[in-house]
Amino acid sequence: MCGIVGYVGAQAALDVVMAGLKRLEYRGYDSAGVAILADGGMAAAKKAGKLANLEKELGDRPLPTGTTGIGHTRWATHGGPTDANAHPHLDNAGRVAVVHNGIIENFACLRAELAERGHTLASETDTEVVAHLLAEEYSACADPAEAMRLVCRRLEGAFTLVAVHADEPDVVVGARRNSPLVVGVGDGESFLASDVAAFIAHTRSAIELGQDQVVELRRDGVTVTGFDGRPAEVRSYHVDWDASAAEMGGYDYFMLKEIAEQPKAVADTLLGRIDPAGSLTLDEVRIPPGVLREVDKVVVVACGTAFHAGLIAKYAIEHWTRIPCEVELASEFRYRDPILDPRSLVIAISQSGETMDTLMALRHAREQGSRVLAICNTNGSTIPRESDAVLYTRAGPEVAVASTKAFLTQLVACYLVALYLGQVRGTKWGDEIRAVVRDLAEISGAVQRVLETMEPVRELARSLAGKGTVLFLGRHVGYPVALEGALKLKELAYMHAEGFAAGELKHGPIALIEEDLPVVVVVPSPRGRSVLHDKIVSNIQEIRARGARTIVIAEEGDETVVPYADHLIRVPATPTLLQPLVTTVPLQVFACELATARGNEVDQPRNLAKSVTVE
Ligand code: G6P
Repeated sequence: MCGIVGYVGAQAALDVVMAGLKRLEYRGYDSAGVAILADGGMAAAKKAGKLANLEKELGDRPLPTGTTGIGHTRWATHGGPTDANAHPHLDNAGRVAVVHNGIIENFACLRAELAERGHTLASETDTEVVAHLLAEEYSACADPAEAMRLVCRRLEGAFTLVAVHADEPDVVVGARRNSPLVVGVGDGESFLASDVAAFIAHTRSAIELGQDQVVELRRDGVTVTGFDGRPAEVRSYHVDWDASAAEMGGYDYFMLKEIAEQPKAVADTLLGRIDPAGSLTLDEVRIPPGVLREVDKVVVVACGTAFHAGLIAKYAIEHWTRIPCEVELASEFRYRDPILDPRSLVIAISQSGETMDTLMALRHAREQGSRVLAICNTNGSTIPRESDAVLYTRAGPEVAVASTKAFLTQLVACYLVALYLGQVRGTKWGDEIRAVVRDLAEISGAVQRVLETMEPVRELARSLAGKGTVLFLGRHVGYPVALEGALKLKELAYMHAEGFAAGELKHGPIALIEEDLPVVVVVPSPRGRSVLHDKIVSNIQEIRARGARTIVIAEEGDETVVPYADHLIRVPATPTLLQPLVTTVPLQVFACELATARGNEVDQPRNLAKSVTVE
C-alpha cells in the first residue's frame, strides 16, 4: 500500500503534489519522491524515510517550477526502503517517470527481457520495469495513454500506475488494476490520487476508475479507456467528506477501515508467491536448503496479536511438516534459557518489525546458532534486517493500535512458511501445496462475505455494552482465535475478557459461568474432524445449562448448533486449518463496536502503543 498523487493544471505542481502526499502519508511512510515536468525536461527527487526527509532534500536542492507532476509515498514491498528503491522510477534516458502502488508479479521476467535489450535497472523494485517499458512503447507510438495500455496488458498482479513523459508536458497518465485510483476534476486542473484525501482541498468532483482502465489527464479534462483501448463509461461523484474523514476512506476510525481492508490484504499477501514452476518463494532467504532440511525443531516467538498468529501456525507447521513446533511469548523466551542449536529454526512474527521483546528473542536465538525467519509487515525494519529469511505480509501500514489486517496476513504468511518448509523438506508435494494455496486464494472472498453480514454482530455488541465480563471458548485452531477475541475486547473495550480452550472448561473456568454471562464459542467445521465439532457442541450445552448466554460462531450449514445458540454468527466453510482467517473477523467487529458503544477511543486505546520498543 502506497500513496500516489498526479497533477496537471496552472498551479505549481510541486506544491499540490507535496500537500497531497502529506494527506496520504498514512498509506506509507518509508520513502517518498516527486517528478515535475519543467523546461522541456524531467526533474525528480526522492528520499528514504518520512516525507520530511524529502522536504529537506527539496529545500537543499530545489526543483525547477512546473505545472505537471507526480508524487509517491511508499510502503515497501519489493526492495527495502532506500533512496534508490523510492519512487518515481525513471527510464535510462530520464524522459519517463512512474510511480506505482501494488505488486507486479511477473516483474522478474520483464526485467530479464529489458536487460537483454540493453536497459540498465537501478533499483530492486518491481516498479522500475514499467518506466523502461513505457519509454519503449512511447518511442514507437508517441501516445502516452496508448503506451500505458500496451504496458498494462503485459503486467500481471495488482497495480496503480501514474506516469509522465517529458515529451508530453501537459499530460499525466494513470492505470488501475486491483488497486485504488481516483480522478479529481477541477476548473482548468486535474488530479489523480490513491484516495480523495489528496485533492479534496482543490476539488470535490471525483471519478472513480474501474478495473483495467487507463486515464489520460489534461488541464481541460480526462479521457478514460479500457486496457483494450475502448472508451469507458465515466462515473463521476461528489465527495462530501471533510479532509480527515477522507483520509480514513469515510470510516469513523482507522480500525474500521483496516478491518474492511482485510480481503485485499489477504489477497495481496498471496500475490506472486508461487513461481511459474509451481514452487513457493519467500522474499529473502539466506538459509541454505540443506540447513532447512536438517531443522529438527521450530520455535515461534512473538508478542500480543502476533503471538496468537504463532499459536495457530503451530497447528499448520506440525501437521504439514511433522517438525515439532513450540510457540513462546517473546518476552519470556530468553529468560528461561531455551534449548536452541543450529538445527532449531526460530520464526519471529511482528507487524512493526521493531518490537523489542521479539528482537531480543531473535538475537538470543542467533547467538545460539539458530536461524531466524521473520514474518513482518514493515519492509526494512530491524527484525527482518537481523533475520536469515523473511516473508513480508502485505497488509500495508496499520494505523490503529489494535492489530486486525496485520493479524490475518500473518496467518496467511504462517501457512505459506509451513508449506515452504514442507516443500524444502519434501513432506508436501507440489500439487498439495497448490491445493492449499488455492484454498487460501478463496479466503479473501470469504472474509468479504463475513464483512457483509456483520450488522447483527454490531447490534449484539451494543446490547452488551453494560456487561462486565465476556468469555471466549475454542478448540484446536479455534483456541487461539478465542484468545485473540478476548485480547481485542480487553484492548478496546477495557472489559474483563478471557479466552479458554473449551476442553479446559470443566477443569476450572466453568465455575465462572453465571446467569446471562456472554460466552463466545468458536465452533470448528463439522466436516473433517467431526470429533472436535461434537465435543464443542457438548461444551456449549454445558455452559448454556448453567445460564450462559451463548454467542456461537459456526460454519454456514452447521445446523447442529442452532438449538444451543442464543446468538448465531455464520462464517463461510473453509478447510479446518484455515478457519481462523474467517472466525477472527466477527470478533474484531464485535470488540470495535462494543468499545465504541462504551465511548472508548478505538484507534488509540488507553495505556497501549502500536509499536513497543522497550522490553
Ligand atoms: C503491541 C500492540 C499489539 C501488537 C504487539 C506486537 O502490544 O499493541 O497490537 O500485537 O505490540 O507488535 P508487533 O509489531 O511485533 O506485531
